[in-house]
Amino acid sequence: MRPDGPARPSTRSTGSLLVDNIGELVTNTPDGAGGQLSLRRNAALLVEDGEVAWIGPARYAPAADRRIDAEGGAVLPGFVDSHAHLVFAGDRAAEFAARMAGEPYTGGGIRTTVGATRAASDDELRATVRRLRDEAMRQGTTTIEIKSGYGLTVADEARSLRIAAEFTEDTTFLGAHVVPAEYADRPDDYVGLVCGPMLAAAAPHARWIDVFCERGAFDVDHARAILACGQAVGLGVRVHANQLGPGPGVQLGVELGAASVDHCTHLTDADIDALASHRVGCMCPEGLHTTTVATLLPGAEFSTRSPYPDARRLLDAGVTVALATDCNPGSSYTSSMPFCIALAVREMRMTPAEAVWAATAGGAAALRRTDVGRLARGARADLMILDAPSHLHLAYRPGVPLIRQVLHNGVPQCRP
Ligand code: NIG
Ligand code: FE
Repeated sequence: MRPDGPARPSTRSTGSLLVDNIGELVTNTPDGAGGQLSLRRNAALLVEDGEVAWIGPARYAPAADRRIDAEGGAVLPGFVDSHAHLVFAGDRAAEFAARMAGEPYTGGGIRTTVGATRAASDDELRATVRRLRDEAMRQGTTTIEIKSGYGLTVADEARSLRIAAEFTEDTTFLGAHVVPAEYADRPDDYVGLVCGPMLAAAAPHARWIDVFCERGAFDVDHARAILACGQAVGLGVRVHANQLGPGPGVQLGVELGAASVDHCTHLTDADIDALASHRVGCMCPEGLHTTTVATLLPGAEFSTRSPYPDARRLLDAGVTVALATDCNPGSSYTSSMPFCIALAVREMRMTPAEAVWAATAGGAAALRRTDVGRLARGARADLMILDAPSHLHLAYRPGVPLIRQVLHNGVPQCRP
């Protein structure tokens, strides 16, 4: 799979399905770029062959084989979680408790998870990915990116990606997560391994390449070399950047045309300028930006008791912002996009509309996808029905299970 390759639904529905009695329909189209939600009232939506076939006034709704009564609830595109690390074993609850008691987060615990992951069977890893993917789906997530990065051997990275690819089209090779203990004294050799045999084994199962560009992980020269190797074999670029302190990651990502730079917790004016200036003129026909998105991961700041990124500064500069969970056993063990929306509104000064856009269309832009994150004719019929009349309730009622029903590729999923 490649960044511009076609999206392939994993399942298909048959027959037509009408969703009506919708309190508020969030479409994200046609003017939804830049964090503006597009809302419709008194609308209905028809699904055929896993896609949205029609949206229009409910009174003109066509006949359909089946009907879902939204009972006045809001209907939104499924969340697009563009940053998650689901292939791992074990947990680090004790590390979380220590942090809540004052220990700082340094990323050092990644090696603990690497040990547990290497020791796990394929079926154990697969079961964890399935459990977390299903958990996310129950909370409205219909597209999820999944990274490797807890294997850090040729065989363990390749199997992580093979397993991830059973669950998503958006798989990311993160062999450069940290330098594993056995290479601690020779990081150059590890970078050679990542760019050589590890990339060769990983690339057939990956769409993206990512590097943790941070003090204590990979410096800018190593990061540039690894990302360039990935680009040379057709992988799209994403970067873990500026999470723990200021650094070169964001500007490196922009320089390389990354789809997304993720975390963006510590940004200088130059970082913001780089993101904002590369945005100009980068609109695809559907109105989604195809330039570098800033993906914010407030679950990580919550779980590491760190300052939140300044979303307002990015948005006011005109940068395209996405929200994602960063679901992983260390820095952010949540699969909940509604939780991230609530944090973004309460702690990062995003409006509820901006946060919902960032969690849907923003995530799609971060994955350079135009088939998800919006509801329009031809888009995938990935949507959720809320037990609430408007998208505002996602932030207004934090911690409440508001997702009543999820459709994935037009197929109703089990009710939570
Ligand atoms: O995005 N920052 C690097 N990687 C993950 C954390 C992984 C871990 O702590 O296990 C992150 O926060
Ligand atoms: Fe991450």
